[in-house]
Amino acid sequence: MNTNRLDVGNALTTRHGAEAARSSEFELLGRTWTLLPGVFAPTLTMSTTLFTEWLPYPVNGSFLEVGTGAGVTAVSAALRGCATVTAADISAAAAENARANAERHGVRDRVRVLRTDLFDAIEPGTRYDVIFWNSNVINAPDEFAYTDDLQWAFFDRHYDTHRRYLAQAGRFLEPGGRLFLGFNSLGDRVTLTELAREAGFEVRTARTTQGQVGDFPVEISLLEFV
Ligand SMILES: C[S@@+](CC[C@H](N)C(=O)[O-])C[C@H]1O[C@@H](n2cnc3c(N)ncnc32)[C@H](O)[C@@H]1O
Repeated sequence: MNTNRLDVGNALTTRHGAEAARSSEFELLGRTWTLLPGVFAPTLTMSTTLFTEWLPYPVNGSFLEVGTGAGVTAVSAALRGCATVTAADISAAAAENARANAERHGVRDRVRVLRTDLFDAIEPGTRYDVIFWNSNVINAPDEFAYTDDLQWAFFDRHYDTHRRYLAQAGRFLEPGGRLFLGFNSLGDRVTLTELAREAGFEVRTARTTQGQVGDFPVEISLLEFV
């Protein structure tokens, strides 16, 4: 494991914690959003904005955002014409935050918010046209201990969540549905490609650009599993 990436993840966790502690609102994509303590701050990286702009929203269709954080992408999906949106996160603060932003932007009727570990709370048989996750890209070692909910935004121990995302997503996709991952170069692309292959997918880069995560220069990519 690259220790440097763990250090970067720790720095990001500290910075996002401080941001959420001092600010309750932020501006993004021409709107004002609520930010609750302990939630990933979308203003500190370019990724939320880029993925929200890049994703192909299924107009009149269904969209699942795994790891919704403050809910910017899920709420934007509803505002851009998705008929039904599920905004899911393992963090209780994130689920509450996404609910607040769905209400704030008048789409609570079509955004269902769930606190869940990946797909666990989604009823079997539920299907989506598009599933997306801006993931916690840093592959943390087996001995990594989560001590703060915000660490879920940056670290995935042993890439277990990425493994389950790829193994389980197919059960929740409509025929012809599309599966995306928001990724960046702090992530472990080699392991991701191997996990995708095990799950029967190839990884395609849908969009990519040079950008920043906090103070760190990275390549930010929207990946599609096909
Ligand atoms: C990089 S943040 C992205 C947040 C938000 N989508 C955004 O772009 O601003 C990753 C999110 O995934 C969530 N997450 C991590 N592991 C998860 C899991 N097993 N199930 C659901 N959500 C998870 C984290 O709590 C965090 O909110």
